[in-house]
Amino acid sequence: MLRVDGLCTFYGRVSVLKDVNLEVKKGEIVALLGANGAGKTTLLHTLSGLHAPASGSIRFQGEPLDKVKAHLRIALGIAHSPEGRQVFKPLSVEDNLRLGAYRRRDDGIAADVDHVYAMFPVLGQMRRRTASDLSGGQQQMLAIGRALMGKPRLLLLDEPSLGLAPLLIDQIFEVLAKLREQGVTILVVEQNAAAALSIADRGYVLETGRIVHTGTGASLLADPAVRNAYLGI
Ligand SMILES: Nc1ncnc2c1ncn2[C@@H]1O[C@H](COP(=O)(O)OP(=O)(O)OP(=O)(O)O)[C@@H](O)[C@H]1O
Ligand SMILES: [Mg+2]
Repeated sequence: MLRVDGLCTFYGRVSVLKDVNLEVKKGEIVALLGANGAGKTTLLHTLSGLHAPASGSIRFQGEPLDKVKAHLRIALGIAHSPEGRQVFKPLSVEDNLRLGAYRRRDDGIAADVDHVYAMFPVLGQMRRRTASDLSGGQQQMLAIGRALMGKPRLLLLDEPSLGLAPLLIDQIFEVLAKLREQGVTILVVEQNAAAALSIADRGYVLETGRIVHTGTGASLLADPAVRNAYLGI
């Protein structure tokens, strides 16, 4: 579904991603792990077209994305739930969800809003409230729900569990597993390596812009170097 080859990016003259190669197959949950500043957000921004690569290629369903602008990538089926949630705080929960569907012209939008409420019942209860009334965890659910409203084939999630209580973290990861069953492919950036690897089919570890480990979720969980650096074990 997604294939990244030899990707290099810069901010000005500062090199961030260095020869990143990565693949996400249809139906997988792939976890992208790494310390602060490793380049995880930069990679997601590059995939969704918010940051231009210096070199390398990104192919989505076999087609190169180089010339596809960010707003058209969503139409191709790539949705991005950004770091820090970035919900539209003055707008209602429901309007936030509807904005996630702003490029759609089909008549399935109302049904998909209901589908998000079925997945996150608390959002249904708060549908008329403004997003600023939501807790951090509820805003995270809203950010994921808004991304789902684009009917993505590939969902990019940047730190969905950041700052959430353990119970909510479990709930978010359960939803990711459910989405995989429903046919959504997921690339999830996480600092919570244990939670992410326990549901991920495969994972990649990014260290100062380079992929340094890759393997199945289970093999990375068992890898002493990964355990030492990212699980504190
Ligand atoms: N807009 C920017 N301009 C210049 N440098 C940037 C910019 N955004 C990020 N960087 C730098 O690029 C590097 C990678 O940042 P990035 O945000 O991709 O890391 P990250 O892995 O997502 O980190 P975190 O875990 O803190 O979210 C860091 O050194 C960061 O300081
Ligand atoms: Mg980040």
